[in-house]
Amino acid sequence: MSNLFYKTTTPFILLGISTLVACGGDSGFNGSTTTDTQLKALIQTEGLTGSPLEKNNVPAISSPAAQLGMRLFFSKSLGGDKDSACVSCHHPALGGGDSLSLPIGVEAEDPDLLGSGRAHLASGTNYDGGPTVPRNAPTTFNLAGWDEVLFHDGRIESLLKTPHQNGAGGISTPDSAFGQLDTSAGANLAQAQARFPITSPEEMKGFHHQDKNNQQIRDFLAQRLGSFGTPYWLDKFKAVFNSPNGTASQLITEQNITFLIGEYERSQVFIDTPWKKYVEGDNTAISDAAKAGALVFFNTPANGGAGCSSCHAGDFFTDESFHNLAMPQIGRGKGDGDGSEDFGRFRVTGQASDKYAFRTPSLLNVEVTGPWSHAGAYTTLEATIRHHLNPQQAIDNYDINQIAQSGVQNLAKMQTNTQKAIDSANFEGLNLNLTDTQISNLVAFLKTLTDPCVKNRQCLSPWILDSTDTDQDPNGDQLIAKDSNNLDL
Ligand code: HEC
Ligand code: HEC
Repeated sequence: MSNLFYKTTTPFILLGISTLVACGGDSGFNGSTTTDTQLKALIQTEGLTGSPLEKNNVPAISSPAAQLGMRLFFSKSLGGDKDSACVSCHHPALGGGDSLSLPIGVEAEDPDLLGSGRAHLASGTNYDGGPTVPRNAPTTFNLAGWDEVLFHDGRIESLLKTPHQNGAGGISTPDSAFGQLDTSAGANLAQAQARFPITSPEEMKGFHHQDKNNQQIRDFLAQRLGSFGTPYWLDKFKAVFNSPNGTASQLITEQNITFLIGEYERSQVFIDTPWKKYVEGDNTAISDAAKAGALVFFNTPANGGAGCSSCHAGDFFTDESFHNLAMPQIGRGKGDGDGSEDFGRFRVTGQASDKYAFRTPSLLNVEVTGPWSHAGAYTTLEATIRHHLNPQQAIDNYDINQIAQSGVQNLAKMQTNTQKAIDSANFEGLNLNLTDTQISNLVAFLKTLTDPCVKNRQCLSPWILDSTDTDQDPNGDQLIAKDSNNLDL
């Protein structure tokens, strides 16, 4: 009883404080409403500033390192068979992802066609009619905001920031055991991550280098890039590393390549959102519907909200932790269980309480990063939210026709596999009834987390290499991305 009393009175106490603060200032003139007052109190409780990361700590896209990193990110030369690049699945004009539920990496019908219309060669290795990569490609936007873990299952992990820290700091990766230092991980999480897509046969490595282990394929690709017979790459590495006499074997190393790619990714800071303006005090920056949605988002269920911020916490809208929400397990899975399942965080820690748990995604720019959830099972934000509220109902009524890609596997098994996640002891479905208005208000709020730049091709152009680029790799390996209408992305 006293607990209930405490919970229901908290907002009023905070509301009182915030009103006092407001009276001391000039907020009477900027159209503050009761909703604004309530929201400002919640913003204060959550300790929000609007800024998830320090812009001063990341490289500018104009910096030499980010520029060269971009050329590497857009280069198929880092694909084992030169038919896949980082940008194949992470294009800025596609929200930093690929706009597909599940990616297609190597052996695409047309490697340069990105987004809808990208299809796998029917003659491809292990092709079974659907996408070959088992998880949705997350956005690279605001990568610098992650302090603790990368990947849906957090298998790239800062040992300084997470509970598993061993005191030494550094980064743990799939090359080291869970919680153990990978001495070659590099300068930061971005670099540590960039060392792995090139080791995945389906993403970039291809199927003609099966004899090479992770380090061997990295070194092989670096050496191949350094011995292409033109000074194109070496000249650029010499300039960036300020080493006019450096040789290819000294400069074009897997460590330098992945560091540069990470610098390009870390320059992708898109945080100037209407929500940030609102937090900073501009009451007119977001609509009334969005404000109502924000109240639902930040208020606890006991206070009539949905408590979204208990997981999507802070200015980056994530606790960088793992939860089992039983998002639909479509796709070929990671080989767990009967072979078609994906055990998520459990694959990393081996702990039962982590089974089916996936990392809480950031919600910044979420409007442009669909399809949503770890296997891209939902194609609207509304459906993604409705799933949180009642996963059982969402699974029972799941409509596979929302997936535009053909041949996505395990539709029949999806319900069986996902039911196991719902029945698991760590299941955290919210079990809440919200009205249609509350849900559409939540969507309106989520859309205030979009930096207008990510919807503006002109604004994104500094991060994109396209056919207007006059300094292309003479080997022809630059990926000039086009859409299904054969137009530049
Ligand atoms: C075939 C598609 C594909 C290609 C090519 C690809 N990725 Fe990814 N990327 C993914 C998928 C899928 C995931 C999520 C995998 C997981 O969590 O298990 C991912 C995850 C990431 C993440 C983690 C983001 C986060 O929020 O945790 C980063 C960063 C990233 N990729 C960068 C790169 C870089 C750099 C390259 C090139 C070296 C690359 N990717 C190539 C599909 C791709
Ligand atoms: C218990 C923790 C938790 C709560 C509470 C929660 N979420 Fe999530 N949310 C997650 C996790 C974990 C995922 C990813 C799950 C997966 O992919 O398997 C996710 C995914 C999402 C996504 C998809 C993002 C993407 O990039 O794919 C959206 C949108 C979202 N949540 C919005 C909300 C909203 C709105 C609320 C409140 C109604 C909410 N969440 C409450 C943990 C939570």
